[in-house]
Amino acid sequence: MTATIHRLNPSGRAPSLEPMMALVANDMNQVNSVILARMQSDIPLIPELAGHLIAGGGKRMRPMLMLACARMLDYTGTRHHKLAASVEFIHTATLLHDDVVDKSDLRRGRRTANLIWGNPASVLVGDFLFSRSFELMVEDGSLKALRILSNASAVIAEGEVNQLTAQRQVETGEDRYLQIIGAKTAALFAAACRIAAVVAERPEADELALDAYGRNLGIAFQLVDDAIDYASDAETMGKGVGDDFRDGKVTLPVILAHARGSAEDRSFWRDAMHGHRIGDDDLAHAKSLLEQTGAIADTIERARHYGQRAIDALGSFGSSQAKSTLVEAVEFAIARAY
Ligand code: IPE
Ligand code: IPE
Ligand code: MG
Ligand code: MG
Repeated sequence: MTATIHRLNPSGRAPSLEPMMALVANDMNQVNSVILARMQSDIPLIPELAGHLIAGGGKRMRPMLMLACARMLDYTGTRHHKLAASVEFIHTATLLHDDVVDKSDLRRGRRTANLIWGNPASVLVGDFLFSRSFELMVEDGSLKALRILSNASAVIAEGEVNQLTAQRQVETGEDRYLQIIGAKTAALFAAACRIAAVVAERPEADELALDAYGRNLGIAFQLVDDAIDYASDAETMGKGVGDDFRDGKVTLPVILAHARGSAEDRSFWRDAMHGHRIGDDDLAHAKSLLEQTGAIADTIERARHYGQRAIDALGSFGSSQAKSTLVEAVEFAIARAY
């Protein structure tokens, strides 16, 4: 039977990352040890700032996906511990930089590093974590893994710059938006999953299948992220509601609501994205337009489509507990509110 996306599991519980976490708990402990050891430095501000963000938790989705993919491929070695830590360092570095760029003040339920220590410290510690990430890859010694992850890092930066140049442009099309999120978010999910096939020394077809799984999951993940930026609450998300709105970020919910709105609505979106209407009342109005036009629901629907593509990409792998957790991770990415 082909796996499909469900809103609830057969057991009736909401989709969760718990089964995946339980499956790879021992590996994840090793990865966390590497993360803690390698964020250290003799310069006290570095572990202080990095530790603030890292101790905030986070879902650890990207390293966990690498570990679960490796388990699905019956890999029994330990090479992926350093590589998974390397992936989480890239993610952590991009968050430090991203919160500077987005002027965000809440992350993982805590004040952001840029708010506490300022932009220069956040940018520099982000650079430190990027560099640590590359040290870990070099220690692993696989040129292939190095190629995949260094390419992903460059693509993430391209995605962030592409997004910067699309900021406030309410005419941004869906294609451009997909190009941006494919780069800034999906590239790292794809790389994390693909590396599992590299360490397991599997044929290229498996690498490509896991790349497709991670990429489509990553797109679904960011689509939902852009929906919950308007539709969740700060306590649940650990991030500020309406950050994208105040920042003039033209995400799919806005693209859809703008396209479907009246002339008056379109002029509202244009003014809002230009930063002229960013009060609480304006955000409330934006949310009501997003609801009325079905923009939030359709953004989630798009996520469901990419989620199904992710699950389909696992089609050539036999049934296993690890595969089930990978399917549930997709369901979680779509159903999540944080
Ligand atoms: C946040 O990623 C950045 C996006 C791609 C939306 P996560 O939602 O995985 O962040 P943490 O690591 O769980 O905090
Ligand atoms: C995610 O982008 C950041 C990267 C993937 C580099 P966002 O700016 O949309 O994510 P959040 O909402 O700050 O986590
Ligand atoms: Mg951001
Ligand atoms: Mg951003």
